Amino acid sequence: MNIRWGILSTGNIATKFAESFRHSEGGELYAVASRSPEKAGAFARTHGIPHSYGSYQELVDDQQVDAVYIATPHPQHYENAAMCLRQGKHVLCEKPVTMNADQFDKLTELAQQNGCFFMEAVWSRFLPVFCRVHQWLNRELNGEAEYVRADFGIYKPLDPDSRLFNPELGGGSLLDVGFYPVWLAIHTFDDEPESVYAEARFTETGVDHFVTMTLNFPGGRKADLMCANQLGTPTRAEIYGNGFRIEIDPQFHCPNRASLTQGNDTSVFHAGFAPHGYQFETTEANRRIRESLQESPHLPWHRSGQVMRTLDRIRKVIGLLYPEHVESIEN
Ligand SMILES: NC(=O)c1ccc[n+]([C@@H]2O[C@H](COP(=O)([O-])OP(=O)(O)OC[C@H]3O[C@@H](n4cnc5c(N)ncnc54)[C@H](OP(=O)(O)O)[C@@H]3O)[C@@H](O)[C@H]2O)c1
Repeated sequence: MNIRWGILSTGNIATKFAESFRHSEGGELYAVASRSPEKAGAFARTHGIPHSYGSYQELVDDQQVDAVYIATPHPQHYENAAMCLRQGKHVLCEKPVTMNADQFDKLTELAQQNGCFFMEAVWSRFLPVFCRVHQWLNRELNGEAEYVRADFGIYKPLDPDSRLFNPELGGGSLLDVGFYPVWLAIHTFDDEPESVYAEARFTETGVDHFVTMTLNFPGGRKADLMCANQLGTPTRAEIYGNGFRIEIDPQFHCPNRASLTQGNDTSVFHAGFAPHGYQFETTEANRRIRESLQESPHLPWHRSGQVMRTLDRIRKVIGLLYPEHVESIEN
C-alpha cells in the first residue's frame, strides 16, 4: 500500500514538493494543511489532493495520514515535527531540521519513543549527481577527500518582513543557503570539524547576510565555505584529494552535472531531473518507512546532528543570536 502523505503548510517549497511528488515512488498525496482553510483548499485543488485542513492539528489528528512533510519556516520545525511524532506520524522535515542541535536531539528521542521514521529533507543527497559523487568518493577513488571549497550566494533585496531577513522567522544566509556548503563538507568528510573560523556581515534587521567559514577537520582536512543572501555567487563546489578533483557546477545543491579529474583525464557525469528534484527524497522516505526503519542509511540522524552542532558553533563565532522565544523548546 502507498504511504499516505500530508503536507504541512502551503509556501514556496511545499508547492515544489507537491509538483515533484508524482515523479516519486511508493506514496500518495492525501492531505494538506495550512493556517488558513482557504489556502489549504486552493492548494489541494491545484495539486489534486483529496483532503485539506485549516489547521496543522487537524492534519495530524487524521488517522489516515501516515507521514507528514513539514515546510514551515525553520523556527516552526521543532514544534511542528514534535506534534507529528507524538501522534506517531513519520516525518520528513525541511532543512535546517531545527534551529539548533538541542532541538534536533529532542526530536530524535521523540521519533524513537513513537517508532517513527524521521529525516531532514536534504534533497541534494538523493539527486542522481550527488549519488554519483558519493560513489566516486566512497568506492572508486583511492584516498580520501582532503579539501572542500563551496559557495552558495543568492541576491535578494533587503525586505525586513521576508523569511530571509526576519529574525522571528529564522532569517539569515547561514541557516538558509549556508546550510548546503556546511552539509557538503560534513557529508564529504563524514566527520565533524575540530575547529571553526567564521566572519559575517549583518543586515540592519540583525541577521547575517554574508558569512565566510573555514572548518578544520581531523587529520588536517579542511573546508573553505561561504554563503550570502545579498551577493549572487556561482554556487560551485569542488572537492580535492590525493590525485583527484571533483567539480559540482553549476548549482551544486541541485546539480545535473559533476566531473571527476584525475591527472589529464576528466570524466563527466550528467543526470537531469524533472521538475524540481524533490521526488528522490520522497522515494527514499517511502522506501525506508516501508522497511520499518526510523532513519535513512543515506541521511542518518548522526549526519543532521553533526550539521546542526556545526551550525551552532558557527553562529556562536559570528554572534548570530535569535530571540529566545524563536529557539525555545516546549516539552
Ligand atoms: N529544500 C529546499 O530546496 C528548500 C528551498 C526553500 C526553502 N526550504 C526550507 O523550507 C522552509 C520553508 O521555506 P519557504 O521558502 O517555502 O517559505 P515560505 O514560502 O515562506 O512558506 C512557509 C510556509 O509556512 C507556513 N507558516 C507557518 N508559520 C509561519 C509563520 N510564522 N510565518 C510565515 N509562514 C508560516 C505558511 O504556510 P500556511 O500559511 O499555509 O500555514 C507559509 O506559506 C524553510 O525552512 C527553508 O529553509 C528548503
